[in-house]
Amino acid sequence: MSNALFSLVQLGQHTLSNRIVMPPMTRSRASQPGDSANDIMATYYAQRASAGLIISEGTQISEMGKGYAWTPGIYTQEQIAGWKKTTDAVHAKGGVIFAQLWHVGRVTHPDNIGGEQPISSSAIKAENVKVFIDNGTDAPGFVDVVEPREMTKEDINNVIEQYRQAALNAIEAGFDGIELHAANGYLINQFIDSEANNRTDEYGGSLGKRLRFLDEVVTVLVEAIGADRVGVRLAPLTTLNGTVDANPIATYTAAAALLNTHEIVYLHIAEVDWDDAPETPISFKQALRDAYKGILIYAGRYKTETAHTAIEEGFADMIGFGRPFVSNPDLPERIKHNYPLAMHNPDTLFGGTEKGLTDYPIYGK
Ligand SMILES: Cc1cc2nc3c(=O)[nH]c(=O)nc-3n(C[C@H](O)[C@H](O)[C@H](O)COP(=O)(O)O)c2cc1C
Repeated sequence: MSNALFSLVQLGQHTLSNRIVMPPMTRSRASQPGDSANDIMATYYAQRASAGLIISEGTQISEMGKGYAWTPGIYTQEQIAGWKKTTDAVHAKGGVIFAQLWHVGRVTHPDNIGGEQPISSSAIKAENVKVFIDNGTDAPGFVDVVEPREMTKEDINNVIEQYRQAALNAIEAGFDGIELHAANGYLINQFIDSEANNRTDEYGGSLGKRLRFLDEVVTVLVEAIGADRVGVRLAPLTTLNGTVDANPIATYTAAAALLNTHEIVYLHIAEVDWDDAPETPISFKQALRDAYKGILIYAGRYKTETAHTAIEEGFADMIGFGRPFVSNPDLPERIKHNYPLAMHNPDTLFGGTEKGLTDYPIYGK
């Protein structure tokens, strides 16, 4: 087998030891009240520190940005202190970790955001989309999302400021950088995709206007912490959480070109996810490569062979393995030696405590 996944790669100031990424995965174990990262989360991430790069689970930038029960935030001093445990533990094992900054927009329920009505680019409800609330048990309580209200210009400015502060907080918490979550149907995606945005002001209508919010958020992130510490995640072809674009190839090729002008350190493409599984055409991968000159990461149902191929063919620089990292804390070692992979238990993905989080053994133990 080739060694493509195990060659060094430079990511901003960091020389990464392999090209295997642990992509962001919500696990809903933050301490309550206050949505703070805690000791078991620190243990979980440190167990996986042999990844070339870890990206934390989605971490809300404000109370309104929260979509699901028990997810961590990064907008209070307590939350910053909570995340410091994780970053210290990962760094002690030589790992590199970015924080995924998250605002869910309309993909939430009033119970998760202090009884407020959710906000979005437009007052369009995401159809057939569920989130989970804390219903008093340990198990996620699934509920339908509700109709959001259209963000005013003031709302937009407030959220941009929240992103800026969250990036500064992430650095204070010891993260090596941040990943802007602009994928999977959440707030920024709700501005980008044509069918989720019917605004008639400068944030909606033409492609350039639908990309304006992304542009403005990335501008403040780069100003706040530097382009070499800012990555962005996009999900061009998925319709996860009900966002659909009428012409995704053109939209996301333009988004990649825009991000290239900001010289962000990486672009992370979420491909297939769950059952939403469109193929990514080779011509589109080539267009993304041409448009964006930094480190390109792909994630979505990759196996060792397909990951090697993606890197050798030159479309990707790094590959994310999501669900395999849940149940294989030593995933790079297993890939390197072709050891068998353990399967994850889907019932312990969200909520609960150590079970299904920190109790997956390394190979042979
Ligand atoms: C339990 C779970 C939670 C996830 N949470 C997030 C998240 O917080 N942010 C995000 O961008 N993607 C999230 N994803 C998507 C993953 O980052 C990844 O793109 C997806 O799992 C596909 O990769 P895989 O087939 O290797 O698992 C999540 C996936 C899983 C399985």
